Amino acid sequence: MEARPALAIHGGDKVRTESMTTSGPRFDDQELKELKETLDQQTLFYWYGEKVKTFRRQFATMYGVKHCHMVTSGTAALHVATASVGVGPGDEVITTPITDQGTIIAILAQGGVPIFADLDPHNYAVTAKTIEPCITKKTKAVIVVHLAGSPADMDPILRMARKRKIKVIEDCAQSYLCWYKGRLAGTMGDIGCFSLNDFKHISAGDAGMVLTNDDALAERAQLFLDKGYSRDGSGRHPPFLASNYRPSELHAAVAIAQLRKLPGIVAQRNRLGDRLTAALKDVPGISPHKVLPGCKSSYWFYMGRMDPKRLKVSRDDFTAAVAAEGVPISSGYIGKMVYEYPVLMEHRAFENCSYPWDGIYGRKVEYGPGLCPTAETIEATSWRCPINENMTEKDIDDIAAAIRKVATWFAGNKRD
Ligand SMILES: Cc1ncc(COP(=O)(O)O)c(C=O)c1O
Repeated sequence: MEARPALAIHGGDKVRTESMTTSGPRFDDQELKELKETLDQQTLFYWYGEKVKTFRRQFATMYGVKHCHMVTSGTAALHVATASVGVGPGDEVITTPITDQGTIIAILAQGGVPIFADLDPHNYAVTAKTIEPCITKKTKAVIVVHLAGSPADMDPILRMARKRKIKVIEDCAQSYLCWYKGRLAGTMGDIGCFSLNDFKHISAGDAGMVLTNDDALAERAQLFLDKGYSRDGSGRHPPFLASNYRPSELHAAVAIAQLRKLPGIVAQRNRLGDRLTAALKDVPGISPHKVLPGCKSSYWFYMGRMDPKRLKVSRDDFTAAVAAEGVPISSGYIGKMVYEYPVLMEHRAFENCSYPWDGIYGRKVEYGPGLCPTAETIEATSWRCPINENMTEKDIDDIAAAIRKVATWFAGNKRD
């Protein structure tokens, strides 16, 4: 029987008394040097300067992929992807209910209808089994989100997509250098998409990337990110409606310097996240962040789950008790399912109509609570800790000790 020291929330001693640093400086002379060189070019236009070209080449090389385009955001990357694979009005695109709105914007902006598949209960991604029942004659693509640095189970998804002739877009906004059985997330489907917004492993303030090995998709992507213009000197003849998602040379300058730091950032996050998992192995009522066998997470954050029945405490009371021990922890991730947002529930993507759900193009798909029960349970029972390259092993050990202390206390607390 483990001893049960009093919880800090009840006036007991805290596990951690000194503050914890969960971030640090990200930019230094390397970015400055690249920016100076960029300004010295006397052009910030991506097609004339060297920085966007260099970054595209370097990122493609790091990932071992033929084509990399740089764009203005992760959302733009996903929109380029849905447009490039040919999503059009009424086409259905299957994705996850736990993601950033950027994933959904990319579908709706093309007139596509988002369809939500349920999730693996512990790695928080869609699976072939959850996608399969969502497939209809209208399914054009699936956007697999590799959440929080951990890969989805891609082999069964890729097999099924090939068989059903569905395009696979990988949303890697949260998952740089995330390995799935010897392959990098972002290189397995038809197109991989990345974000360089200010919260990601590396940042250019805002920007994004599109990766593909497919020449035709790469060509479409190039046109779509630049108003449909060919920049090969053949003149202006946009073949379809496209946007302007061109990055500036300044974005690429910062991204080049950040890319050099990426392997070190990911290695440290991987070490720390795996350390937390090992430390939580036998804690009662706690499920660690699951990384599939043969895979490697780059832990954008660490999200585990707690069992309220086993611990006889609500999730929010549990995280409050852990936080009181002096470590960073919060409840859940996005608060509610993406399909509970008004834009979807009320079919309000565009003013004064319910396009693309209006029946001319697509089905009138209804959204609301209950659609993906496992995903809803994940959101209701998960807790989240930061993992950052500036954190130490001691920080991780203290987080684990606080979770263990609180879970053990509640697990042994026979109040019923
Ligand atoms: C999973 C996911 N997809 C897409 C995006 C959109 O990226 P951006 O903010 O660069 O548009 C994000 C950003 O938070 C994300 O986390």
